[in-house]
Amino acid sequence: MTETVRTRVAIIGAGPAGLLLSHLLAADGIESVIIDQRSREEIEKTIRAGILEQGTVDVLTQTGASERVLIDGHRHDGIELRFQGEGHRIDFPGLVGRSVWLYPQHEVLKDLIATRLAAGQDIRFGVTAERVEDAGSTQPRVIITDAAGAAGEIVADVVVGADGSRSVARAAVTGSSTGGYFREYPFAWFGILCEAPPSSDELIYSNSPEGFALISQRSATVQRMYFQCDPEADPEAFSEAELWEKLQARVPGTTLKEGPIFQRDVLRFRSFVAHELRRGRVALVGDAAHTVPPTGAKGMNLAVADVVLLSRAIDALLQRHDEGPLDRYAEVASRRIWKAQHFSWWMTSMLHVAPGASDFDRRRQVGELRSVVESEAGRTYLAEAYTGWPLETAL
Ligand code: DHB
Repeated sequence: MTETVRTRVAIIGAGPAGLLLSHLLAADGIESVIIDQRSREEIEKTIRAGILEQGTVDVLTQTGASERVLIDGHRHDGIELRFQGEGHRIDFPGLVGRSVWLYPQHEVLKDLIATRLAAGQDIRFGVTAERVEDAGSTQPRVIITDAAGAAGEIVADVVVGADGSRSVARAAVTGSSTGGYFREYPFAWFGILCEAPPSSDELIYSNSPEGFALISQRSATVQRMYFQCDPEADPEAFSEAELWEKLQARVPGTTLKEGPIFQRDVLRFRSFVAHELRRGRVALVGDAAHTVPPTGAKGMNLAVADVVLLSRAIDALLQRHDEGPLDRYAEVASRRIWKAQHFSWWMTSMLHVAPGASDFDRRRQVGELRSVVESEAGRTYLAEAYTGWPLETAL
């Protein structure tokens, strides 16, 4: 016997995109079911970037999804771009009247899960989506295997793939699980968490002859830092002393405060946009639709922008029988997606040292950095993109 669950919107993935979508739909009176193959504990431990755009914070606070972001998060009014031993501040409010917030993604996840469960949201952990069927019909289905290994299906008016970069839903939309525009990079980030006081009040994005480093924070006693490494690097291959030596060498002109390193990971770099974002009644959001390299922390912010748009489109379809907004979702979402792709690629290419870079390449890169920091127009573009373009809601 195959169990059949019926709902209005079936959401695959209890990451920030899927959870926020259920929250926005519920505010419109639209019921949904979320499934995720991971447990709640695994989801809440996900280590990702820590920067929220102003618009993301507005959505989280104005809809009641997270009050904690304003209490436990930290407003950042700028970043430092560091090169040739000097730091150059980009003053966000002064340039564009907006800021960003340092509030790690797993904290957003804890808030969203707690908010949704308190509201009675049906979230099924440990349930695997095998595939999505009947995208072209008015009753698409998710074929599932539940936590006990039993087969089942969820039949809905709309299915949303919020299931990350290894999306299962993507195949139903693009015809293949990999179909998309794709770019790889010849480097990765070595990320650490350490017990130490902050080395700086704001984030430092540093370009040095040794490669890139990013100095970020988590709290008064825990810091997050990254440095450019080989994509094949083994996180366990370096001693703590070697890691500190690498980090210090990549921020010339400043000295980092060191402390015990208790977490290390290697983050692969990819740029990806699925060829299609929606087919019939199945749509993709967040990492299922696109991946950006981490420089500039656009990943979760872009997912939030997708979800705000898609929630409007689903509301029009299910409450007003207006299919137009869903028909326009891919086109409207793509505009921001490609702007964010460009920004993430640009920050990455401007700040990292590509293997085999020539003297010309290095000097040109410093020229590019100077063109940004010594020009109000240059600084304003960076500030505008980093703090996030205004969220579109009209479709
Ligand atoms: C962090 C990560 C990023 O990719 C970034 O651009 C800024 C901050 C972070 O983890 O704190």
